[in-house]
Amino acid sequence: MMNASRKKLYFNMVLILATGTLLKEDTSGFVHAAEAGDEPRNDANYTKTPISAASKLCESCNCIRDKGVFDCTSKQIGATSFPLEDWQSLNTNGLDVKLVFLVSTGLKEITRFPPMNVTWLDLSHNEIATIQTGCFTNLTLLQVLDISHNRLKSESLNPDVFAGHYSTNEYMPLSKLRVLRLGANDLHSLNPDLFEHLPALEELSLELNPFKVIDQQSEIAIASIERLVSLDLSYMELEDIPKYLFHTPRGLRYLNLTGNLLQEVPAALSYATALAWLSLDENPISSIVVGTCKSPSQMAGLSMVDLEHKQTHLRCPDEAGNNPSNDGALLMGLLIGVLLAIPLTAAIWCVYKRGCFGLFGSGTPAAYSRAFYSRTTLNEEF
Ligand SMILES: *[C@@H]1O[C@H](CO)[C@@H](O)[C@H](O)[C@H]1NC(C)=O
Ligand SMILES: *[C@@H]1O[C@H](CO)[C@@H](O)[C@H](O)[C@H]1NC(C)=O
Ligand SMILES: *[C@@H]1O[C@H](CO)[C@@H](O)[C@H](O)[C@H]1NC(C)=O
Ligand SMILES: *[C@@H]1O[C@H](CO)[C@@H](O)[C@H](O)[C@H]1NC(C)=O
Repeated sequence: MMNASRKKLYFNMVLILATGTLLKEDTSGFVHAAEAGDEPRNDANYTKTPISAASKLCESCNCIRDKGVFDCTSKQIGATSFPLEDWQSLNTNGLDVKLVFLVSTGLKEITRFPPMNVTWLDLSHNEIATIQTGCFTNLTLLQVLDISHNRLKSESLNPDVFAGHYSTNEYMPLSKLRVLRLGANDLHSLNPDLFEHLPALEELSLELNPFKVIDQQSEIAIASIERLVSLDLSYMELEDIPKYLFHTPRGLRYLNLTGNLLQEVPAALSYATALAWLSLDENPISSIVVGTCKSPSQMAGLSMVDLEHKQTHLRCPDEAGNNPSNDGALLMGLLIGVLLAIPLTAAIWCVYKRGCFGLFGSGTPAAYSRAFYSRTTLNEEF
């Protein structure tokens, strides 16, 4: 890592060199000087540093050699991603690319990549409708793949898109891929085997896709992600969550159900035993179901819950006392109400007993203590 002052020095060097070049109107001199020198690098003008002379791609996009960044954000690079030779030219010219940003470039089709050490590939905000089979096979170190905000349809997204190299113990795994973002596409269903090549998948987002319903195929696809930790299903027009969706992904900790059409707390949540964060914001939940004693209504009353922080345990609710509220403001009111009610009740009780909390030693009615007990447990959860 370069420290700030050194960086500044480099920057000044480049400026001086650039000024010199301008004065002499001798561009070849600049390139030569820069190559011979200390490889000047800075984030603002790197397209003019020697690397641009070395690779065609760095002329149209930004290459940051010491960070292994290849960034084409907001550059119009055509409808199809670069051919193999172009990608390879980056490597042969000494840029070991690790992070690739092809964001807002107008891309429509993604073709195969050659072997590269890319760990992060951002293809978001394009018009991508097709991805070639085995497109990422050669990106064996890929950890994060963002294809959100594109035009992917369910039909064009099949498992082979994510196929990796042959392996003896797993089925052609893209074995390092942890994060897959598919939000804001035209998906309404998932191929049941869509994630079969992604054994390490931990974080999946499908937000803003017009699913309307998680059909059986999609359920199989999601339920088969064994190592799933975080799932974003917000704004998908969902009216229900399949009951056994979270039965297999036992490690699910973050679940975002914001902005759906859920009218009750999904019973499926009772299987999400490791859940630590849940959002049910912007759902028309009007009453908390008590009938099925599986629904974790303790957390359901809250619109957005940090379950871990509050050490809440999922358990069956009492018959009464489930407050139909999913609205943030109402919830706050409820919370304040409960918090106020406790000292108030205590005060009234004190006055009634003419003494505080058994100081005068008269027998406490069991009903009162029971009522107090349930109130305080509720209080602890907040
Ligand atoms: C170099 O960077 C400066 C400041 O960021 C900018 O004004 C200038 O246009 C850049 N020059 C080139 C050739 O990109
Ligand atoms: C992997 O890269 C090699 C070398 O560029 C290429 O020949 C091969 O077709 C690639 N494989 C896939 C599945 O893209
Ligand atoms: C990937 O990294 C390895 C080890 O750092 C290096 O030897 C290899 O040349 C790199 N491959 C590419 C395609 O950059
Ligand atoms: C939940 O989803 C909403 C809407 O998509 C998003 O703004 C928010 O960041 C998400 N929260 C988390 C923690 O993923």
